[in-house]
Amino acid sequence: MGGQSMNGQGMNGQGIGIVGLGVISRAYLDTLVGADGARIVAVADRDPERARAVAAELPGVRALTPAELYAHPDVDTVLNLTVPSAHHEVAIAALAAGKHVFGEKPLAATFAEATDVMERARVAGRAVGGAPDTVLGTGIQTARAVVEAGVIGRPVSATATWLSRGHEAWHPNPDFYYLPGGGPLLDMGPYYLTSLVHLLGPVDAVQGASSRARDTRVIGSGPRAGEEIPVDVDTHVTGVLHHVGGALSTVTFSFDAVATRAEPIEVHGVEGMLVLPDPNHFSGDVHLRPADGSTDERIIAPRAGYVDAARGVGLLDFVAGHRRASGEIALHVLEIMTALLESSRRGARVAIASAPAVPPLVPLTPRAQWRGPR
Ligand SMILES: NC(=O)c1ccc[n+]([C@@H]2O[C@H](COP(=O)([O-])OP(=O)(O)OC[C@H]3O[C@@H](n4cnc5c(N)ncnc54)[C@H](O)[C@@H]3O)[C@@H](O)[C@H]2O)c1
Repeated sequence: MGGQSMNGQGMNGQGIGIVGLGVISRAYLDTLVGADGARIVAVADRDPERARAVAAELPGVRALTPAELYAHPDVDTVLNLTVPSAHHEVAIAALAAGKHVFGEKPLAATFAEATDVMERARVAGRAVGGAPDTVLGTGIQTARAVVEAGVIGRPVSATATWLSRGHEAWHPNPDFYYLPGGGPLLDMGPYYLTSLVHLLGPVDAVQGASSRARDTRVIGSGPRAGEEIPVDVDTHVTGVLHHVGGALSTVTFSFDAVATRAEPIEVHGVEGMLVLPDPNHFSGDVHLRPADGSTDERIIAPRAGYVDAARGVGLLDFVAGHRRASGEIALHVLEIMTALLESSRRGARVAIASAPAVPPLVPLTPRAQWRGPR
């Protein structure tokens, strides 16, 4: 267990430099400040004022430019929380400076950029990890443990469904959601597709179809409320994933709906059905219905995963050397998403080349063990 310094940060652990201090950085800071195994050394943003403001709240943490942060000798791992279009630029600069990189999703805005990140990491002998880490929580990991224990028999199919009106309703700067690297698939797909890969194994081919209901959107909140922004991506994407083991997943992601009453993820085996909680969260009930003709559903008590987890648990898992939120899985998921869009454009089935190892199941791990005592 790491000791605590005067500023509440663990004294031990890997040095973390955070680049990108927008909306999601708050959630990471909540988890990482004071956690065992990681120590925030410095923060940086394209907007230096944001770096100064965050550093002012965290004694001992330096506000640097991104270039200074990459060069800082106490930074071991760069946490990349920038917008998708900057993920590649930040990751390769960090790798060039000899740092490991853990990034928000998607791994990069395009599959070519993400492949470049992974290749540079291989050459540099550095590790890459990536969101989502929600899949390491008790929700998805418990469901995976149930599937692996054979409780639902051979898995045949799954559905994953996420539909909404679009993030411009609440995000003050939603432009990136409507630019390449954004869209409902690249934004929300990582949670669902990473879960499906953990549950049913890698994917070797996809078929997709997509559409776009509007060419502009209107910002709904913040100082830019009422501003019209362009839409440069398809905003309704659906498709089928062919898992190597034979199961088929049917997926839908949309910014063009009002709401949905569909379950986030269902998994159907020859001997049972599982209903999973929202994979954008770390926990939630897993429901099991057996194949005995009854309509009774059983809630499965958590049996795997990080308990009471929050964003940043994947980075702590990464710096501890487990690296279950791996760059290889993030690359595979990005290849699946890119292929769904390509399949939609071409009207043809598209093969997936990457075939990552699915990381081992997370043992049921109480909060004090993954984060350290408060
Ligand atoms: N907002 C959410 O609820 C949420 C949830 C999960 C994941 N994410 C992911 O987190 C990432 C960031 O999202 P956000 O909502 O925090 O965005 P944001 O726009 O609020 O913040 C991004 C920050 O990155 C900075 N930045 C951009 N390019 C940069 C560069 N080249 N160098 C340094 N700084 C740069 C911006 O100045 C900004 O402060 C995205 O990949 C998004 O998909 C967001």
